[in-house]
Amino acid sequence: MLRLFIFLFICLDTALGSVLAIDYGTDWIKASLMKPGVPFDVLLNKDSKRKIQSSVGWKQDDRLFGSDAANIAGRYPLDSFSSLKYLQAVPYDSEAVSFFTSISTADVVRTERGTVALRRSDGTEWSVEELTAMKFAYVRELAESLAGEKVHDVIVTVPPYYSQFERDSIVDAIEIAGLRTLALVHDGTAVAVNYAMTRAFPTPEYHIIYDAGASSVRATIASFTSVPSDPKVKSSAKDSTHISVASVGYDRTAGGTELDRRLREIMIDDFQRKHKKDIRSDKRGMAKLWKEAGA
Ligand SMILES: Nc1ncnc2c1ncn2[C@@H]1O[C@H](COP(=O)(O)OP(=O)(O)OP(=O)(O)O)[C@@H](O)[C@H]1O
Ligand SMILES: [Mg+2]
Repeated sequence: MLRLFIFLFICLDTALGSVLAIDYGTDWIKASLMKPGVPFDVLLNKDSKRKIQSSVGWKQDDRLFGSDAANIAGRYPLDSFSSLKYLQAVPYDSEAVSFFTSISTADVVRTERGTVALRRSDGTEWSVEELTAMKFAYVRELAESLAGEKVHDVIVTVPPYYSQFERDSIVDAIEIAGLRTLALVHDGTAVAVNYAMTRAFPTPEYHIIYDAGASSVRATIASFTSVPSDPKVKSSAKDSTHISVASVGYDRTAGGTELDRRLREIMIDDFQRKHKKDIRSDKRGMAKLWKEAGA
C-alpha cells in the first residue's frame, strides 16, 4: 500500500499537465482536478454542485448527463441509464443483472459474448463500458474547462472487492473516454491518503474508514505512522507518512440503493392497494416511484 501512496505522488509529480481524480460512485461522481500551481479543486457540475449524478441519457437526439439524465427517466424510461456500476463486467446470467433489472427501467439485453448491453428506445445497443466512458468524458470536459487545457491523465476509485474483470472494465471505459489511467485506487485508501495529507502522526494511529455508499457498505482499517526524514538525503527535508491498509470489510448487499428498492416496494404496494392497478408493468410509473423513493 505504501508503494501505491508513493506511486500516486510520483504520478502527480511527473505528470506534465493536469491530473483528474474521479471518485466513481454508483449514484454520484465526485471529481477533482490537480494542476501544478493551481490550488486543489473539486469540480463543480453545471449547477455549481460538488457532486454529479452518475447518469447518462438521451432526450430524443440530445445526450444528457447528471441529474438531467436521471430526471428524464419518468418520461423516457428506456433512455435514462443510472446505477450502471452494478453491471460492470458482469455476465448476462448473473445476480447483478437480476438486481439491476429490479431497480432500473432500462432495457438490458444479452450480447453474442454473453455479456450485457443496454438498448435504447431507438434500438441502438450500448455496452456498459461505452456508457461509463460517456460519463468520464463529460467529467473530462468539466475538468478541461476548469484547467483551461486538455486533460489526459486520470486516477479513478474502485471498491476494494473489485475483481480484475471489473477493474479492466473501468480501464476500458477510461480509454474510450480518451483518458489515460494513472492508477485505480481503492476508495478507502483514497480517503486514508487524503486524511494523512494535512496531519502528522508522532505516535502510530489506527483508524476505521467507514463508507456507506449506494451499492455497498465498506470499512477500511488503516494505520498512519510518521517517519522522520533522513538527514543524509538532501531531498527528504520533511517527515513522511507511512500508510498501511491492515484490512477491509464490506457488504455488497447493503447500501443506499437497497434501501431505495425496499422503500419503493412499500410504495408499489400502497399504490396497488389505493388504485387497484399493477404499476409494475408501467415503466414510466416505476421510474417516477424510483425517483420518489430516492428523494
Ligand atoms: N441520510 C441518508 N440516509 C440514508 N441513505 C443516504 C443518506 N444520505 C445518502 N444516502 C444514500 O447514500 C448514497 C449516496 O452515497 P455516496 O455518494 O457515497 O454513494 P456512491 O459513491 O454513489 O456509491 P458507491 O460508492 O457505493 O458506488 C445514495 O444511495 C443515498 O440514497
Ligand atoms: Mg462512493
